[in-house]
Amino acid sequence: MTARHFLLDTDLTSAEQAAVLDLADALKARRRAPDPADRALAGRSVALLFEKPSTRTRLSFDVGVAELGGHPVVIDAASTQLGRGETIEDTAAVLSRYVDAIVVRTFAQDRLERLAAAASVPVVNALSDHAHPCQALADLQTIRERRGHLTGLTLTYLGDGNNVAHSLLLAGALAGMRVHVASPPGYEPFEQVVRHANEIGAATGGEALVMHDALEAAAGADVLYTDVWASMGQEGESDSRSLVFQPYRLDEKVVEAARPDVLVMHCLPAHRELEISSAVIDGPHSVVFDQAENRLHAQKALLSTLFAEGAVSGGGASR
Ligand code: CP
Ligand code: NVA
Repeated sequence: MTARHFLLDTDLTSAEQAAVLDLADALKARRRAPDPADRALAGRSVALLFEKPSTRTRLSFDVGVAELGGHPVVIDAASTQLGRGETIEDTAAVLSRYVDAIVVRTFAQDRLERLAAAASVPVVNALSDHAHPCQALADLQTIRERRGHLTGLTLTYLGDGNNVAHSLLLAGALAGMRVHVASPPGYEPFEQVVRHANEIGAATGGEALVMHDALEAAAGADVLYTDVWASMGQEGESDSRSLVFQPYRLDEKVVEAARPDVLVMHCLPAHRELEISSAVIDGPHSVVFDQAENRLHAQKALLSTLFAEGAVSGGGASR
């Protein structure tokens, strides 16, 4: 049996994504009185491998694996032989002999794909330069718990067409949402991702649109979303990006252009007064800490689903 990976949002179908969100809600509701069946990882170990910094992803996977009855092993890649040049393929093969799943935060999507190809256990994308699919699951859970549904809602993302934008485009399309991305010219999401989102949207009712005017994109939005202007690995571009992205700050003016009950979202960490004003992130529309909490519930649901399917070869080629 081959392992089932979650490297990109589209590794779940629309129906599977909805089922993961349902399970996430159920796990959240009974977190303090869990069902015996919720211990999907009992007797299993999960490696959490980080090649970039993390607060939310690291903590929520660590706690989540433990709550599912499993044993989390958190690894800072720089302290391993990866930091001294051992290949990602050899690392994947070795980890597969010890653990039952590998959750990894890395740089290029290609590195994640190489790791998955060499692993015999499920690999989960905990953020790559290309996508942040676990974040998008938590975001959809957060929107759904406030609005009761996702289909037909408009989410407007302002800023860099980055990993978070890509995942919102794809996961939003799977859920039948309209995702509008307003970016400065030259910083738009990848065309191939926008095209893929629209192909999915043809079946779900979703739509992906790239725009350049923040206020136009925000008009009538149900959700306003932003992320940092310089992602991890782009620190050297922080100053030039701060200038280019000024017109895309999520501030009170943008909130006023949206629906009166608009939800304001940010995956965090935020740079206050850069991509979002303090008044907005601390204001009545903001659900940023619900998003952060839902990382825990959504990822528990995802891991339970990957294991429940029996599409897992189990830790170690010899087992
Ligand atoms: N949103 C998110 O992934 O946060 P961390 O970088 O703290 O994990
Ligand atoms: N786009 C950001 C997200 C951080 C959670 C980054 O990659 O740094």
